[in-house]
Amino acid sequence: MDQLGMVVLLMLICPMAMATSEGPKEMEEWFYKFNTTSRVTQQKVTKLHFYFHDLRGVTTAVVAQSNTTATSPTVFGVLYAMDNPLTVGPSQASKVIGRAQGLYGSTSMEELSLIQAMNLVFTDGPYNGSSLTVLGSNPVMHPNREMPVVGGSGVFRLVRGVALLTAYFFDVPRGNATVEYNVIVYHN
Ligand SMILES: *[C@@H]1O[C@H](CO)[C@@H](O)[C@H](O)[C@H]1NC(C)=O
Ligand SMILES: *[C@@H]1O[C@H](CO)[C@@H](O)[C@H](O)[C@H]1NC(C)=O
Ligand SMILES: *[C@@H]1O[C@H](CO)[C@@H](O)[C@H](O)[C@H]1NC(C)=O
Ligand SMILES: *[C@@H]1O[C@H](CO)[C@@H](O)[C@H](O)[C@H]1NC(C)=O
Repeated sequence: MDQLGMVVLLMLICPMAMATSEGPKEMEEWFYKFNTTSRVTQQKVTKLHFYFHDLRGVTTAVVAQSNTTATSPTVFGVLYAMDNPLTVGPSQASKVIGRAQGLYGSTSMEELSLIQAMNLVFTDGPYNGSSLTVLGSNPVMHPNREMPVVGGSGVFRLVRGVALLTAYFFDVPRGNATVEYNVIVYHN
């Protein structure tokens, strides 16, 4: 059975596996069943591929900036909130499968580099209702960047993995960017 099949099967076996549909007792039972034996022998690898659209001023907003940001070549100290669409194809018009909801801020004085802390919240397809949490360093001018996937919810409970970012389109003056995401995770 392929990975997608496994995820679909998992969802059929436990259709109420979404975090919001379980109380604390069910969550605890699930957690104790997820022991070392099952982790080593039964973990799955799932790959995801999608495009992330950062539309400055449309799906992002400045939260704060320091009094030196305006004169910093790396806009050090600025912090944004985002609710960026994730699509199956590189076009903004292609099918939306989720949102990247979180914060990013400029944290390097040497180059344009962000701390990015976000949830990839899936709203369609086999991962609808599940999310991945990403926390990493994103030196945006580099063609390829890697950020850790530090956790998740739903079918991605106790997940670990990496997100690989590749620039697809970057309109520096206006700030719009389309970034290709290749994500690979181990999960139960
Ligand atoms: C640990 O996981 C294995 C494999 O899923 C299962 O057979 C076993 O009952 C589990 N043990 C506990 C204490 O939950
Ligand atoms: C940036 O994104 C906005 C919102 O989708 C769009 O109106 C604008 O045309 C885009 N600009 C470029 C250069 O893609
Ligand atoms: C920025 O604010 C700090 C703290 O109030 C102050 O010490 C500093 O002089 C300010 N810098 C500029 C460039 O205004
Ligand atoms: C995603 O899941 C939500 C909640 O279960 C549901 O309302 C919605 O219709 C689903 N969306 C798709 C595209 O399947």
